[in-house]
Amino acid sequence: MAQNGGMPDASADPTSVPTTMCALVIDRTGSADELHLADLPVPIPVLDELLVKVNAAGINPIDAKTRAGKGVAAAITTWPAVLGGDFSGVVARVPYADFPLQPGDEVYGMAHFPRTTGTYAEYLPVSSLSVARKPSNLSHVEAAAVPLAALTAWGAVVDVAKAAPGQRMLIHAGSGGVGHFAVQFARVFGAHVTATGSARNLDFLRELGADEVIDYTSERFEDDVSGLDTVIDLIGNVHDDTGSRSLGVLRPGGLLVNVPSGSWPTMAAEAAAAGIRGTTYKVAPDARRLQLITALIEDGSVRVHVDRIFEIADGAEAHRVLEEGHTRGKIVLRVS
Ligand SMILES: NC(=O)c1ccc[n+]([C@@H]2O[C@H](COP(=O)([O-])OP(=O)(O)OC[C@H]3O[C@@H](n4cnc5c(N)ncnc54)[C@H](OP(=O)(O)O)[C@@H]3O)[C@@H](O)[C@H]2O)c1
Repeated sequence: MAQNGGMPDASADPTSVPTTMCALVIDRTGSADELHLADLPVPIPVLDELLVKVNAAGINPIDAKTRAGKGVAAAITTWPAVLGGDFSGVVARVPYADFPLQPGDEVYGMAHFPRTTGTYAEYLPVSSLSVARKPSNLSHVEAAAVPLAALTAWGAVVDVAKAAPGQRMLIHAGSGGVGHFAVQFARVFGAHVTATGSARNLDFLRELGADEVIDYTSERFEDDVSGLDTVIDLIGNVHDDTGSRSLGVLRPGGLLVNVPSGSWPTMAAEAAAAGIRGTTYKVAPDARRLQLITALIEDGSVRVHVDRIFEIADGAEAHRVLEEGHTRGKIVLRVS
């Protein structure tokens, strides 16, 4: 163990846990300016929880929506609040001696924020059901970009839409955090994929495996595709009625999976009226599914794209960039 004047050096040994930690917090909801660094007590894990020393935290739109007072803000009960769902780091404490993961192991996962504290902090207590071993071929920064977005894409494309050979699928926003995994999962499971994005992302979409691409800034997607089996809608009606317009490109009885459900509250009624099966989808922390995703990453079938990396002190700027809505892949905070 590294020594520091005879005392354990907590910065060198991830399993040596201090009593306080640095976190990026908000004292109230509002603009990105509300994000600031603070010293907080290191959380105490309970029951099956591990304590993870967080190396990197992925940023997701739900973080910014919540910070702004929407998203899951109404469920925050502890202030200052630590935001964030995605983490990659090193196990510092385990629930019992013979637990399958051990102190020092590299892990990643999705925290159940806001039921537990978020991941923009040096230490995270997290349920054993939410933690998987970090893919061996990814850095912590890359791994932190995976869980929430990839679990969402898996849920929508594999669990709900049941991607399969012969299935014709349209994926809106295929270049974003969820979308770039959705395109790859759909391709892995054999679906024929059309993906939308702006001109600068069309080559990226093709590299991910999209069979056809549509520039939503210059084309109306309904002019290019029709009679599809499935639409994975990662835009909803927040932009140019993308969700409502998608109903018209599906075959009778086709399936629309509306992921950002808040932007389109009339989805179910509109889908029923159009003879389409419409559903929303909500992601959940899930170590078992994350292990399936890990395997695809480690065998090279699926990759993660990190667009920008910010130091935790620059978290406000990271949120501003995310809120522009044009991230290619993911934005990640380097925490410790
Ligand atoms: N229900 C759930 O459990 C759940 C889970 C995760 C995410 N979500 C929601 O799903 C949505 C997508 O999340 P995300 O993380 O993928 O977002 P994101 O990474 O911020 O998405 C950014 C991408 O969207 C593309 N884009 C923007 N406007 C578009 C349009 N009109 N048509 C096609 N592409 C467009 C951008 O491409 P260009 O730069 O080329 O425009 C960019 O690559 C968010 O609303 C998020 O809150 C819900």
